[in-house]
This record gives sequence, C-alpha cells and structure tokens, in this order.
Amino acid sequence: MPALTFLKIAVVTTRVLACSLMLACSPAAATDAIVAARQASMKKMAAAARTIAEMFDGKRAYDAAGFKLAAATLSARTGPALITEFPEGSLGAPSGARPEIDQARPEFEALARHIGRLADSLAAKAEEAPAEITSDMRMGTGIPMDGGSLLGKRPNAPQADPAKLPAEHLLHLILQDCTSCHSKFRQKVE
Ligand code: HEC
Repeated sequence: MPALTFLKIAVVTTRVLACSLMLACSPAAATDAIVAARQASMKKMAAAARTIAEMFDGKRAYDAAGFKLAAATLSARTGPALITEFPEGSLGAPSGARPEIDQARPEFEALARHIGRLADSLAAKAEEAPAEITSDMRMGTGIPMDGGSLLGKRPNAPQADPAKLPAEHLLHLILQDCTSCHSKFRQKVE
C-alpha cells in the first residue's frame, strides 16, 4: 500500500474512532472522514476494475483468484454501500461530489443500484471462474453495447439479464456506469 494512502486511512480511522468515543469530533471532522473514506473506496474500485480489464486485455496474467477478489471488491462497494457513502451534508467542495446529488437522489441511487446489480453478477461469475479465460467469458460480437445501460440510447429496450452476459461484457457495462455517474455527479476540485 502506498505510504500516502496508508496515512490517509490511518487519519480517517483515528477520526472515526475519536467520533465514536465523542472526542474531538467536530461536524467538519466527521464530514472529512466520510469524504476520505468514500474517495479511498472509489480508488479501490478503480484498481479492481483495472485489474479485471488488464486480465481480459492480456496486459496482466489472468488468475481466477485475482479475478474473484477484484469482482468481489466491485460488488461490495457498489449498490447500497455506495449510496451510504454519500449522506446529506457531505457533498460539494472541497469534495469532488456535486451538491446536485441531493436534488437528484433517485437518479443517483438508481445508478448506484444498477452498477451494483452488474457487479453482483460479475462477482457470481467470478466465483465459478475457470483456471483459464474461456471464450464464453469474452464479449461476443453480436451483443449490443448499450443493452444493459441505464442511460442507453434506447430507454425502452428490454434490459438484458446481466446473469446471461459474458464477464467481459459485464465489465464494460460497469465501466459505462462509472463514467455516467462521474459525468453527472462528480466535479473537479483543487
Ligand atoms: C453513482 C455514482 C458513482 C458511481 C457509479 C461511481 N462513482 Fe466514482 N465517484 C463518484 C463521485 C460523486 C466521486 C467524488 C467523491 C468525492 O470526492 O467526495 C467519485 C470519485 C471517484 C474517484 C476519485 C477518488 C478520489 O480519490 O478523489 C475515482 C478514482 C472513482 N470515483 C472511480 C470509480 C470507478 C472505477 C467506478 C466504477 C467501477 C466508479 N467510480 C463508480 C460517483 C460515482
């Protein structure tokens, strides 16, 4: 673990601990801890998604255990867990979360649940992952890319059952959801 990340986590842990003991817990410190924790969680998701993508792209040696761990990380940090990381009062600068999340809760939460379902399906597949990447794990050529996207161009198109999609296709849909949410709900802050 990089030293900086470790330091950040140590600081957050200390703050959460201080808060739970009712010591030195200003509302600002509590918010800082929430923001730092969700940013760390997002970084873990990014690392997990990169690991899986590189395995499918042949840039990293595939191993079933590593695939399983990365998919489980995505599943554990999306869905309801992701929603809980963005409570009211924790949005806006200095965090990278847009204050508009509060006005668009249904949309934000729908995105979090959508990516959560995809990640759950991917994790279920990874549980059974074979020792080598098999062709049925690969994205077929005949499957439309926006088949399962919440913000796809055909809002009335039937949602494909994620359990029936190949793992690589699920990963691509997951990455689309990361991008959809970021373009709408994330802001640049310095
Ligand atoms: C439902 C919305 C949503 C989804 C889905 C989502 N993110 Fe995020 N992400 C955010 C928001 C909002 C922030 C800004 C958080 C903050 O700074 O408080 C963020 C921040 C980040 C960051 C920067 C963290 C930092 O250190 O500042 C990374 C990296 C990231 N997301 C990766 C991902 C990846 C990879 C996925 C998909 C696997 C993903 N996110 C899915 C909303 C989302």
